[in-house]
Amino acid sequence: SLSWIYTKDLKNFIGQKIIYKGWVWNKRSSGKIAFLQLRDGTGFVQGIAEKSTLGEDVFSDIKKIRNESSVIIEGEVQKDDRSPIGVEIIVKKIDILNQPEEDYPISNKEHGIDFLMENRHLWLRSRRQFHILAVRNEIIKAVREFYYNNNFTLIDTPIFTGSIGESAGNTFDIEYFDYGKVYLAQTGQLYLEAACMAHGKVFNLGPTFRAEKSKTRRHLIEFWMNEAEVAYYTHEDNMNLQENLISYIIEKVLERAKEHLIALDRDISKLEKIKAPFPRMTYTQAVEVLQKKGYSIEWGDDLGAEHETELASQYEKPLIVEKYPKNAKAFYMQPDPENPEVVLCDDMLAPEGYGEIIGASERIWEKEILLKRLEESKLPKEEYEWYLDLRKFGSVPHSGFGLGIERTVAWICGLNHIREAIPFARTLYRVYP
Ligand code: 4AD
Ligand code: MG
Repeated sequence: SLSWIYTKDLKNFIGQKIIYKGWVWNKRSSGKIAFLQLRDGTGFVQGIAEKSTLGEDVFSDIKKIRNESSVIIEGEVQKDDRSPIGVEIIVKKIDILNQPEEDYPISNKEHGIDFLMENRHLWLRSRRQFHILAVRNEIIKAVREFYYNNNFTLIDTPIFTGSIGESAGNTFDIEYFDYGKVYLAQTGQLYLEAACMAHGKVFNLGPTFRAEKSKTRRHLIEFWMNEAEVAYYTHEDNMNLQENLISYIIEKVLERAKEHLIALDRDISKLEKIKAPFPRMTYTQAVEVLQKKGYSIEWGDDLGAEHETELASQYEKPLIVEKYPKNAKAFYMQPDPENPEVVLCDDMLAPEGYGEIIGASERIWEKEILLKRLEESKLPKEEYEWYLDLRKFGSVPHSGFGLGIERTVAWICGLNHIREAIPFARTLYRVYP
């Protein structure tokens, strides 16, 4: 019996008969020959069906095939120098499993973005979307590998939480049985801080939620974050770790997903330059640069998207901006001993206008300072008793960060909107499908 072979392996079967299982995404035919554009989840290949070998009846069925019909083909792999993968399939037998009763809604013509998002369950099959999510897969694989290669332990952090991790204001609130109000996690950080006191070097990777009312090309309501937390790491150690992670992701994606990036028309030469070390500047320097360029920003203001884009556009690598004013940042960040008005934090800004991909800091490790910051931030102390315990029992300096997966995907793929960087985007106006 014949073996079932995926597109990506066909080149190893030239001259042999095989089984192919997939879909016809497009078709061209004349009186004697039909060209079936096939896909199977690993790539794209052309099938050639000839009336002379298949006979009148089968050929007339083939001529009726609609886009996105599912098919099982028995065929012979033939060398084809014009094909991007070097082969095509000569169809010897075909079984049409499901022939759509209507035309497939997504065609080669231009569709509006609302229509495409409404049909995301089908849009996923389109070539460009296929390549984007294939790159996403390699990015996530590289993230996990990086941590395992560096002796980190995976700690899965909870999604329901009573302890707001970033700031009140953009939480999703839920009634949790008799307990009362809890939130969908904005971050797993506080739990990683607990776990790093047990395992030293820890990381997570999971969905996080922010009820952001901003409708931008960089924001999702549900997005995936990878966070790392390391006991005894300083701010400096933390920045080095971030650089190494990003360099590793880029290296592995270029090694394993280059064909997808090429299919997306990504300028690969730009990615090839992304190697540690990355340029760094302080927030205070950043404000000076912006003021010289004529931006009306004052020391103390947070950096907006246009500021980030301007700053990052001066470099070919990601830019690390460190030591922001404490009032522009979250409650848990360690003050700089040299200037307590700023905190030992950093944001990593991707090149080419993709904005902040990483938010990071050293954490406050003294209980009294943390208590004061909780009060100033109007967060309820009761919900942070456990978090304060970490500062009571063998507290140590520790640092960590969060990497936004979709922003990283958007940057590496060169997308102009974050909604294409996740299989099913949740945005301000869309939770369907
Ligand atoms: O800068 P953020 O808010 O940092 C934290 O949540 C920290 N607790 C992480 C940590 O130190 N463990 O978010 C981290 C990253 C951002 O740099 C950005 O890349 C991404 O998460 N991000 C979003 N991505 C898509 N949509 C949104 N609404 C996002 N908000 C943040
Ligand atoms: Mg941030």
